[in-house]
Amino acid sequence: MAAAPSVSKRVIVLGAGPAGYVCAIRLAQLGQKVTVVEAEYLGGTCLNVGCIPSKALIAASTFLEKVGHAATMGIHVEGVKLELEKLVAWKAGIVGKLTGGVGGLLKNHNVDVVMGKGSITGKGKVRVATKDGNKDLEADAIVIATGSVPLAIPGFDFDGKHVWSSTEALAPARLPKHLLVIGGGYIGLELGILYRKLGAQVTVVEATEGALPGQDKECVAVIERSMKKLGLEFITKAFAKGYEVAGDTKRVRLEVGGVERFVECDQILCTVGRKPYSAGLGLEKVGLTTTKQGFLEVDTTMRTKVDGFWAIGDIAGQPMLAHKGSKEGLVAAAVIAGQKEEYDSRCVPAVIFTAPEMASVGLLEEQATAKGHKVKVGKFPFAASGRAMSLMETDGFVKVVADADTDELLGVHMVGPEVTELIAEATLAIEMHATSEDLARTIHAHPTLPEALMEAAEAVHGMAVHIFQKPGK
Ligand code: FAD
Ligand code: NAI
Repeated sequence: MAAAPSVSKRVIVLGAGPAGYVCAIRLAQLGQKVTVVEAEYLGGTCLNVGCIPSKALIAASTFLEKVGHAATMGIHVEGVKLELEKLVAWKAGIVGKLTGGVGGLLKNHNVDVVMGKGSITGKGKVRVATKDGNKDLEADAIVIATGSVPLAIPGFDFDGKHVWSSTEALAPARLPKHLLVIGGGYIGLELGILYRKLGAQVTVVEATEGALPGQDKECVAVIERSMKKLGLEFITKAFAKGYEVAGDTKRVRLEVGGVERFVECDQILCTVGRKPYSAGLGLEKVGLTTTKQGFLEVDTTMRTKVDGFWAIGDIAGQPMLAHKGSKEGLVAAAVIAGQKEEYDSRCVPAVIFTAPEMASVGLLEEQATAKGHKVKVGKFPFAASGRAMSLMETDGFVKVVADADTDELLGVHMVGPEVTELIAEATLAIEMHATSEDLARTIHAHPTLPEALMEAAEAVHGMAVHIFQKPGK
């Protein structure tokens, strides 16, 4: 990280989500004069209606579920009850602390914050509709970080009443008796499992053949089995076509493998993806165009095709993940400040807060093979981990994919206890171009869950100590 350059530019950042606010702070650290324009809330989707509130509620639901199993350890807990209003207020408190923290950080870094919807009126020019009228701003560079919004499907407009988006599902006034979730991706599974753990009956309908399309299939199979154990109904190859309301009941019409089927529920949650958000942004005024999916195309320095404009975060393409957006924000800030920096998409970890959790980084086995690698795979089950046993969470495994010729790590995929934390070590290893032998030779503290990663790396060489591997396997 180089020191602050002497030339200061005026930069406007449109949107204060994890891409925009991180970019703004880094720009300020690098001596630039920064203004952040935010239409709704500091912290964006992630802090207000995404990552943070969902993970807070998921943590609480997991706690509730664990209390239910405490008797296995000889701990008898009676009179457990859920106070939904208090849970939602607790979650809101966490959100409030974090968004307040972002406001404080921007202030301490002398970043100007203008609240209101911004639109581009020309090169270097932005008009903000504030509550006190329009405000015109000028800058040398404009960073677009306007994020994304939930995608709707025909017949299921978000009305906040019959059909929730993730936003309403994160602030429920009542616990549904039967929640029907359309879409078995990241949000559908995280929130579906959350509601199941809180006590609702849950049905998830997914258009493709299985949950979490695009993820490691063996890992996903563990999650699918676990959902079944939790009593969550999961219907695949299913498309929701429409619904009728009769009193408190919604009768949802599905097409499952070409056959019509109905499910009755009292709440629908639609989570079929998110779309980049650029409505009313005035992109056309400066010749900026989006892809068919609505993304702004950028190069590895986060520059758009129009000089003076940058794009970061969800608006700049997949994967729509907070840490990917923040990294792009850091890259854009450095480049605007005159430093040499590039975004490298090789090491973007993905973490999914299902039960058990899933995490992955790098290439899937089949992607590595398709890229021409001869691969070696090592696996280690959590059932053989003393730490996992003591946590009563032995479902899952760690899978290490390495190049058979060079032994370089190509990908790591995990499902099991706390793997959303464990993936950090694998990410660093891949980032540093480590080999599976490097991981295997590293001393891991005992008894800990990361030992499973070390053993999976040993398993690549048929040398895992705590499972029996037939010689030559
Ligand atoms: P956003 O966070 O969407 O922020 C964009 C900001 O721009 C918003 O505040 C918006 O008000 C503002 N804005 C838009 N237009 C204008 C305008 N014209 N003028 C001014 N301001 C404007 N990702 C993870 O990595 N981990 C998770 O665990 C995770 N969980 C999630 C759970 C849920 C339920 C959801 C919905 C998403 C989750 N995500 C998660 C995804 C993550 O929230 C997004 O990838 C991330 O917020 C994108 O950051 P961003 O800064 O690009 O956009
Ligand atoms: P998603 O893309 O993850 O999943 C959408 C799912 O809906 C897919 O499985 C798709 O096949 C299915 N689908 C699409 N149309 C359908 C239809 N008509 N009927 C039935 N199923 C249909 O999108 P999701 O869950 O809305 O999340 C959006 C994004 O937010 C994610 O892709 C991810 O980038 C981000 N996110 C990240 C989280 C994390 O990092 N832990 C958590 C939550 C969201």
